[in-house]
Amino acid sequence: MATIPDAPPHSATQASTLIAPRHVAIIMDGNGRWATARQLPRVEGHRQGAQTVRMVVEESRRLGVRYLTLFAFSSENWGRPEPEVSALMSLFAQYLESELDLLRNNQIRLRAMGDLSKLPQKVQDSLGRTMKATAEAQGMDLIMAVSYGSRDEIVNAVRGIACQVKSGSLDPDAINAQTISQHLYLPDLPDPDLLIRTSNEIRISNFLLWQLAYSEIVVSPLFWPDFSKDEYARCLQAFASRKRRFGLTQEQAQSQTTTETVSK
Ligand code: FPP
Repeated sequence: MATIPDAPPHSATQASTLIAPRHVAIIMDGNGRWATARQLPRVEGHRQGAQTVRMVVEESRRLGVRYLTLFAFSSENWGRPEPEVSALMSLFAQYLESELDLLRNNQIRLRAMGDLSKLPQKVQDSLGRTMKATAEAQGMDLIMAVSYGSRDEIVNAVRGIACQVKSGSLDPDAINAQTISQHLYLPDLPDPDLLIRTSNEIRISNFLLWQLAYSEIVVSPLFWPDFSKDEYARCLQAFASRKRRFGLTQEQAQSQTTTETVSK
């Protein structure tokens, strides 16, 4: 697979300013409905959805996104009919094998978060191999949330913190928001700047509940298999037009940004 042509990070792609957010998270929704609308089995929607994953990974890297987190399979998705779960697992393993060159050639580091112990051994092996082969890449982190549930993640974090308190290595009064963040699956991951959800659904669905506290949310009407480069650009434009205030007034937020820019 060819190397993706470079775009300077966080830059404009066209005459208009298309600022690449540092961290984009995506809930890829609508594969099933895409297939049903064409009288195809649901798995065909997932197969087509895997093609969209490729496009979004390439495009994110090209635009200078530093972290891309994709919700590939939720902890609740284990409850789907067995043939669909099996098909998704096979697709996932196939994707990992087929994309290795693309990831390596383009300095993309694969990471995963979720209860990976539940994945079939074949998928665990593919994941392990791909993560190892791309561990040194520094262009973009591609994070697959697989067998992932945010409530589980928070429960795990609380357990870890409770153990530290019990052993006496952590004072309960010293627990703050940072303590929680440091006990999540990938503690070094910055919070998403932008969450995209496709297929017009306006829900978080147990995805990054803690991390999305101040993320901008953009909903696309398209089913995931139809999500295109143009639609991705439209979502990024929508993000660029938002005024992020983080609970401050517009004036305060603006003066903070100016100070940050000046001090860089
Ligand atoms: C939601 O569509 C999508 C999923 C549950 C799985 C996402 C999987 C892929 C995009 C393909 C394979 C992934 C990789 C990383 C190669 P849905 O089935 O809930 O759609 P519906 O709401 O229309 O039924």
